[in-house]
Amino acid sequence: MTPLIIENFFPAVDAIRSDFERAVTFGHARLRERLVWDYYFSEGNFAYVRTTADRVITPSFHHLFVACLREFTLKELGCPRVFSPWMSYYLDGCFQARHTDTQPSFLSYVFSLTHWDQRSFRGGETFINDLSKGAETETVCYEPMFNRLLIFDGQLPHGVRRVRNVTDPRKARVVLHGLIPLPGICGVEGLLPGMEPRLRRQLADLERYINSLGTFSGVVVIRCKLAKGGLESCHLLVNTALDVRREEYSSTRLAELALAGVRNLDWGGLAEHATLSFPLQLGSAAG
Ligand SMILES: [Fe+2]
Repeated sequence: MTPLIIENFFPAVDAIRSDFERAVTFGHARLRERLVWDYYFSEGNFAYVRTTADRVITPSFHHLFVACLREFTLKELGCPRVFSPWMSYYLDGCFQARHTDTQPSFLSYVFSLTHWDQRSFRGGETFINDLSKGAETETVCYEPMFNRLLIFDGQLPHGVRRVRNVTDPRKARVVLHGLIPLPGICGVEGLLPGMEPRLRRQLADLERYINSLGTFSGVVVIRCKLAKGGLESCHLLVNTALDVRREEYSSTRLAELALAGVRNLDWGGLAEHATLSFPLQLGSAAG
């Protein structure tokens, strides 16, 4: 999966940036508001200052942000749930070493409140290792531009380049970040009564078939449109699948295989009209 970048994601970004500034400006925040910050430190692994975003952001804007994120991930990625964000800032020496996010998380997101163009610090980019190009892995850096949302496969090794030369939180790298769990089948309410178990059985059989062809890891999420009692169209929303031994199947080939399998399912009589999305879990991702 190539990371997704969405510019100008949140219309009320200035409001949550203001909440952050108030929370870290001496003389503005009350003592109990300042005491929410956690210096999250593990030698050689990570160092940054964090809190849960709901402790800093005005509740209505916090709800709006999570709702916007959820609306986006459901529509574009077939993922109806997102975990509430952390809010973190990175001062001199702060970083995250290369790591993968803990399962059962699926995708990860980083939303930037950093005034990146005005920064005087060095570092602070999110880096992600692209494993899709075979044995040669490539590290790509993503700048946390103000109001930019980055969504990526949390199972790819990633981290944050060490920040240097900033001591004022208002001039630091500031982000909201969190996890997006693996979705289930979305849109089952469009199925005719009693048809959901039939669909689930077919999807489980298809997963088993694909997994019998090789050693894979990852997930593909597919959206299908049903009409007139059959499958009208299907397309890929997310593809984090890799051929672990890198022998035969590229991630593109795996996606084609999954889509071909979906087209060959028995869709007859499942629904009059429905739009469904569902994951196919491959290899070690299979539950
Ligand atoms: Fe992470």
